[in-house]
Amino acid sequence: MKRILVTGGTGYIGSHTIIELYKQDYEIDVIDNLVNSKIEVLDKIKEIAGKKPNFYEVDLLNYDALKKIFEENQYDLVIHFAGLKAVGESVEQPLRYYENNIGGTINLLKCMKAYGVKKIIFSSSATVYGEQPVAKLVETMPTGIGITNPYGETKHMIEEILKDIVESDPEFEVVILRYFNPVGNHESGLIGEDPKGIPNNLMPIIMKVARGEIKELSVFGDDYPTLDGTCLRDYIHVVDLAKGHVAAINGIKPGVSIYNLGTGKGTSVFEMIKAFEKASKKKLPYKVVGRRAGDLAEIYADPSKAERELGWKTELTVEDAMRDTITYLNNL
Ligand code: WQD
Repeated sequence: MKRILVTGGTGYIGSHTIIELYKQDYEIDVIDNLVNSKIEVLDKIKEIAGKKPNFYEVDLLNYDALKKIFEENQYDLVIHFAGLKAVGESVEQPLRYYENNIGGTINLLKCMKAYGVKKIIFSSSATVYGEQPVAKLVETMPTGIGITNPYGETKHMIEEILKDIVESDPEFEVVILRYFNPVGNHESGLIGEDPKGIPNNLMPIIMKVARGEIKELSVFGDDYPTLDGTCLRDYIHVVDLAKGHVAAINGIKPGVSIYNLGTGKGTSVFEMIKAFEKASKKKLPYKVVGRRAGDLAEIYADPSKAERELGWKTELTVEDAMRDTITYLNNL
């Protein structure tokens, strides 16, 4: 298997995954509409890996342009990252999220079917678990119940679409990867998380506070039933996450395979602040405010299935992620 099409490949997780794919000598094409990433990332990938993917600035909603790419290239597998992913924004703009994430995926899958490309790795999210009675999440749990935002709903719906496609065509080989909370960046500091606009997630906000672009971090509640009152999440280094995609390719098989990609450990917001301060050797200004709607006290992965079936588990820590984040910030 040599040629891979990566949708959303100039994005945070896509770009890190391409670095790992190049170590396995895959040939890579990237489709991205650059709505939340910069084309300069391709040069950074070349600086790190010595190679640069072919790039198509195409929106997955442009079916004719997408079809032309499949006409001109024979792909062995698709890794599908492209999608809008700001939880808060999805609540304000549901139609944009449903059209972009679902419509784009349907166009992609139509092209894959038309050109006989039947292997796909899908970038899903722990968000699809919605509300669960326990904090440690396992792939066999029911999904789609108590999802609090259209972003999460799109991820759940796409998972269901993929399951239905496999039902209709058993030759399809699908891997669904449910990410927990990706953080950190490549050790070179040349690529990292650099969302356009106001970020949603904890780490990009901490980075903007550290750069003085935001005055202080608002900690959304310290009255949760946890070790220090703040919420716990499973923060996975993005390089470990990227390696999980290579392991998924090596383990792909007919049918639908679903894996959690996480560390299996919860870290609190205060612990994240302390880890960042330790790495940056500077205090991080923050204030505790009210809880954020939809936040759950504690969520972390049971990553044992990926270890058992794919031979993959995380090797890097939150401290590694903070060290690499500082390198990235110093490069900006
Ligand atoms: C983490 C913790 C907040 C910001 C996201 C989305 C989705 C998913 C990653 C891909 C929570 C706290 C945050 C802030 C804070 N990605 N926080 N102040 O909530 O786990 O959900 O996970 O699918 O983007 O589902 O991640 O980074 O938003 O928050 O106190 O300014 O940090 O309360 O406890 P979350 P997050």
